[in-house]
Amino acid sequence: MDKKGKVYVFDHPLIQHKVSLMRDKNTNVKEFRELASEVAMLMGFEATRDLPLKDVNIETPMCATTVKMLAGEDIAIVPILRAGLGFVDGMLALVPNAKVGHIGLYRDPETHMPIEYYCKLPADIDKRKIFVVDPMLATGGSAVAAIDFIKRRGGQNIAFMCLIAAPEGIDAVHQAHPDVDIYIAAKDDGLNEKAYILPGLGDAGDRLYGTK
Ligand code: PRP
Ligand code: URA
Repeated sequence: MDKKGKVYVFDHPLIQHKVSLMRDKNTNVKEFRELASEVAMLMGFEATRDLPLKDVNIETPMCATTVKMLAGEDIAIVPILRAGLGFVDGMLALVPNAKVGHIGLYRDPETHMPIEYYCKLPADIDKRKIFVVDPMLATGGSAVAAIDFIKRRGGQNIAFMCLIAAPEGIDAVHQAHPDVDIYIAAKDDGLNEKAYILPGLGDAGDRLYGTK
């Protein structure tokens, strides 16, 4: 039977606290960037919970024993540019050997449809567990397009990780890609007329890079 994607809400108090600070309009660029990295690491910790382990024989100073170590599942982190870049360092701190692909998309301000400007993925993307990362899942157009690109290049084992999701975005991703698990820190109320998430945190790219 085909896998059915699930939504996991990572509502650990530390994650909730940091996301609340990120929502505050008085949080400055430096603080916002640091918080994004910290939350990415905390979310990455939860999202890698199912990584396979293998038995390894070692000797402690006391005796021989069999312990669990990572079986070495190969991982790719794929940020959606620009704002997804804010998640990369935090994830790499946990899985330093992961390869990183990049997908460049921006939303047309009128139609809100995603427009592609860049896509570079690891050559062996078909063999990797892939984490697509982006702080915001609003209409879902960008996430759906990014996952489309990855699947067209052979990617199969894909999860999507974001900070804040609108119900519309979750539905759009699962409609287009029912096999993809979605990891979020918060599910918000919905979208305004410009397709921004309410209450949200504003424009994630602008807040990360100070471009407003
Ligand atoms: C933001 C965000 C997502 C997208 C979400 O990027 O980082 O990629 O919007 O919206 P959607 O779910 O409706 O597609 P944006 O297009 O503002 O580009 P930027 O990161 O370059 O600022
Ligand atoms: N993109 C953002 O950066 N913020 C939103 O609220 C919606 C889309």
